[in-house]
Amino acid sequence: MAKCLVCGSEYESFINFGKQPVANRFIPPGEYESEYFFEMKVGFCEHCKMVQLENQPEREEMFNETYAFYSSTSEYMKKHFQKFAESIKNKYCTTENPFVVEMGSNDGIMMQNFKNWNMRHLGVEPSKNVAEVARSKGINTINEFFSEELAQKIIAEYGQADAFLSANVMCHIPYIHSIGAGIAMLLKPKGVLCFEDPYICEVIDKTSYDQIYDEHVFLFSVMSVSAAFERHGLEVIDCEYQITHGGSMRYTLGHKGQHQISENVKKQLEYEKKMGIDKLETYQQFAKNVENSKNQLLELLTSLKKEGKRVVGYGATSKSTTVLNYCGIGPEFIDFISDTTPIKQGKVTPGTHIPVRPYEEFSNDMPEYALLFAWNHKDEIMAKEDDFKTQKGKWITYIPEVHIFE
Ligand code: SAH
Ligand code: TYD
Ligand code: ZN
Repeated sequence: MAKCLVCGSEYESFINFGKQPVANRFIPPGEYESEYFFEMKVGFCEHCKMVQLENQPEREEMFNETYAFYSSTSEYMKKHFQKFAESIKNKYCTTENPFVVEMGSNDGIMMQNFKNWNMRHLGVEPSKNVAEVARSKGINTINEFFSEELAQKIIAEYGQADAFLSANVMCHIPYIHSIGAGIAMLLKPKGVLCFEDPYICEVIDKTSYDQIYDEHVFLFSVMSVSAAFERHGLEVIDCEYQITHGGSMRYTLGHKGQHQISENVKKQLEYEKKMGIDKLETYQQFAKNVENSKNQLLELLTSLKKEGKRVVGYGATSKSTTVLNYCGIGPEFIDFISDTTPIKQGKVTPGTHIPVRPYEEFSNDMPEYALLFAWNHKDEIMAKEDDFKTQKGKWITYIPEVHIFE
């Protein structure tokens, strides 16, 4: 039995992925003694409907000066965050000299827009390396973890905020009530909290179990987000589906009673009920689908290996850490994983020790099969990989089920 991080009720886990490493900690070859592992179990709280990891590494194990995820590696995501920032500016920055805060601002992919518009902004980013990149672009950034305590300091220095933003961060933070209390305090009476994260309904629908890794302590729904923030006097006033990260939801919240509630909220809640995300059985079925997916992927890779085919991975995503460690896929199946992020190159994947190589090693000597770990960027990748197709290369994916495509 574990205790729900949101409401304190007891729950049992519905899936155990076994020992998992820190997903974004790519390691120099051979330096395996200090590798950190934890038992990754996921549970569903029947009381507040939150899906959550039963335990998670300490935050400093994950977010530090060697954090390997640089947001700006995707051109598509740059455009996505530009549009996100534009919508916030137009809709919610209507006061004189508005102030916008972002939690987990990384290399400044979102905040650069507010900076370019000469608006008052503040990025809060604990991982030093990426925070430095943002600073070097002239983006106002503090190198700290957001919390209720930090909110007080921000108010003392800047005053209250019109908008508090975050993308792919809220679901990383187990101390959600410190965050909620901090945001409630920081927001002006008409201020909004707007954040997006991978959406539980998409994870269930696509069996995209790779969205579950050390950093993703929660998988949110409108239902569970409402329950989590209610006690801080915040209510969901809008929700908008996003295609990013394999299917995400953007939640907008405001102080209770201060905004009109969009029809989207009611519709989405009805959809979630229809999907059964408020029922334990749905997660038990998901667990079975995950096991099937694993068996099929292993079967496919084993047969390709027997046929002597060369398989290379495409995109050393954090998500791939769960797939590789859970399925037991190492260098015996995959020669290397190609990735455009310099800090990952020359290192090996956490736990399974597959080499990560620069993109050029893929493009200069194309394999027969490429296993698409960055499946969430499929459109962007397919648009630039015509050569692979011309050379009769084949793609392998496991989303929504294991299959090969050309
Ligand atoms: N918003 C970016 C980055 C997401 S990665 C994007 O969507 O691309 C998650 C980021 O959250 C990391 O940069 C990590 O350092 C940061 N983070 C983790 N815990 C945090 C906390 N308590 N406060 C602020 N940022 C945090
Ligand atoms: P991403 O799927 O954004 O995130 P996560 O780590 O949260 O699962 O990571 C994409 C990774 O794939 C990142 O390391 C960069 C890499 N990548 C490429 O190598 N080539 C590409 O064309 C794209 C879009 C990403
Ligand atoms: Zn709960």
